[in-house]
Amino acid sequence: RIVLVLNGPNLNLLGKRQPEIYGRETLADVEADCRRLAGELGLEIEFRQSNREYEIIDWIHEARGRVAGVVINPAAFTHTSVAILDALHAFEGPIIEVHISNVHKREEFRHRSYVSAVASGVIVGCGTQGYALALRRIAALVGAEAG
Ligand code: DQA
Repeated sequence: RIVLVLNGPNLNLLGKRQPEIYGRETLADVEADCRRLAGELGLEIEFRQSNREYEIIDWIHEARGRVAGVVINPAAFTHTSVAILDALHAFEGPIIEVHISNVHKREEFRHRSYVSAVASGVIVGCGTQGYALALRRIAALVGAEAG
């Protein structure tokens, strides 16, 4: 079973940008952690990042009928993108939304998520560990067999 892990804009700079908020782990570190855990959970992973809204939308379309679940940190698009919400509505499997920081402790404009309306679950403010939590939840929802 394949799980698609999608990352939105500026997350390519993870570990370098605002480390006091997002920590020092890079996106490559997060990817390595996810791959290790996915192996344990009996899942296959596709891990992607883009600064372009249309590319994220295209990847969600391509996941239809092919991918068991989606983990998505839409980053700033969380708060702006009806287009990503609509694309996710066309995906059949479970979706877990992840935010590294606790968006509810931050500026008002980060409190609103378009994506939460379609998410099975939301993990907020658990640091980069949130990705592992999300993968475990997807594994439970899709009935993955460990080993
Ligand atoms: C973020 C929170 C967003 O508000 C922000 O625009 C990001 C990252 C997070 O993971 O905490 O880029 O999604």
